[in-house]
Amino acid sequence: MTMKQITLRSRPVGSPEPGDFALIETPLPTIGEDQILVRTLWLSLDPFMRLMLDEKPFGMAPEMAVPIGAPMPGSIVGEVIETKSAAYAVGDLIEVRASWSEYVAVSTATPGLRKVCVPAGVSPSTTVGALGMPGQTAYAGMVKVGRVAAGETVVISAAAGAVGTTAGQIGKILGARVIGIAGGPDKCAAVKAVGFDDCLDYRDPDFASKLAAAVPEGIDVYFENVGGDVTRGVLPLMKYGGRIPMCGFISLYGEGEESAGPDQLPWLLRMMMFKGLEMRAFTGAGVGGAEALEKLGQWAAEGKLKPVETRIEGGIAHAPLAFSGIFGPNRALGKLVLKVAEPV
Ligand SMILES: NC(=O)c1ccc[n+]([C@@H]2O[C@H](COP(=O)([O-])OP(=O)(O)OC[C@H]3O[C@@H](n4cnc5c(N)ncnc54)[C@H](OP(=O)(O)O)[C@@H]3O)[C@@H](O)[C@H]2O)c1
Repeated sequence: MTMKQITLRSRPVGSPEPGDFALIETPLPTIGEDQILVRTLWLSLDPFMRLMLDEKPFGMAPEMAVPIGAPMPGSIVGEVIETKSAAYAVGDLIEVRASWSEYVAVSTATPGLRKVCVPAGVSPSTTVGALGMPGQTAYAGMVKVGRVAAGETVVISAAAGAVGTTAGQIGKILGARVIGIAGGPDKCAAVKAVGFDDCLDYRDPDFASKLAAAVPEGIDVYFENVGGDVTRGVLPLMKYGGRIPMCGFISLYGEGEESAGPDQLPWLLRMMMFKGLEMRAFTGAGVGGAEALEKLGQWAAEGKLKPVETRIEGGIAHAPLAFSGIFGPNRALGKLVLKVAEPV
């Protein structure tokens, strides 16, 4: 029996294109002791995976680079269909970092492997969204790194994304005034519908002045997801001693280690010095950890946090197009997940 799988055909230059990936037909994996065979139901499409497509992945160990011809790595929610482990039964739903494949063999010792546990009425796919790694990231940035307090003004870039929509809701739970930044009037309207107090369009030629008008007393916390021009608009508006949870910089992921643009480091250092800024980069899973998962699940069960996700159909063959779409203008709101199969 065979299955469909997506492999890396060539290293993207700049943003990934569907042609950088190949759809292959390959034998179904077999399992050994303490392994489970999992049928993929949902595939998570995450921007950070772009970094792993470079020969030297920025900030990661060289072995994190996906070799040409290798299966694309990715987090999945799937259903156990065969088991050689006492800890997992056929029918269990699990989340694991695996690959863009219709079926995966998983060792039960795989770090991060966990059983799906979502409140009643919440889709299992949120285990790779607001109730999973992106949620942990939002929690880590807002609570642990940003230390957002009631009454503070928080600005969140990539507000319409998986991390942004969750971070914004956490900001409201914490009692902050939360301003989003997103691309286009429709996305800004959707971000406000999620619960943000306001949302600014970074594509508007008057973005910087409109943002300044929206935060008359300055910004206490800037949740950084984007980099580039958006950061250039936000930093001058920071209050003295402001905090910047440095979550990601999606606008620069195709640039490689040495950007072709003018060197902005002197500007950044001046901003940090004269505004006394505290900027801390973090990984959501590491800093948010189990505490984040517990709290997110509790808020979701209480109805305080509503996981936002865009579900697309098309099976595993659609993954390259869906992944490439993250890096340009798109209509996705919240976590983008690809439906690979229905549970049996
Ligand atoms: N530190 C960690 O552990 C960690 C974990 C997860 C994610 N992250 C980072 O967090 C950020 C958001 O991730 P996510 O999972 O929320 O992504 P996502 O759901 O795929 O959303 C990405 C968002 O980025 C925006 N975007 C894309 N290209 C852009 C550009 N050139 N300029 C401005 N905005 C752009 C898009 O919004 P518009 O349509 O509004 O442009 C989209 O809403 C990324 O930088 C990611 O790498 C970090």
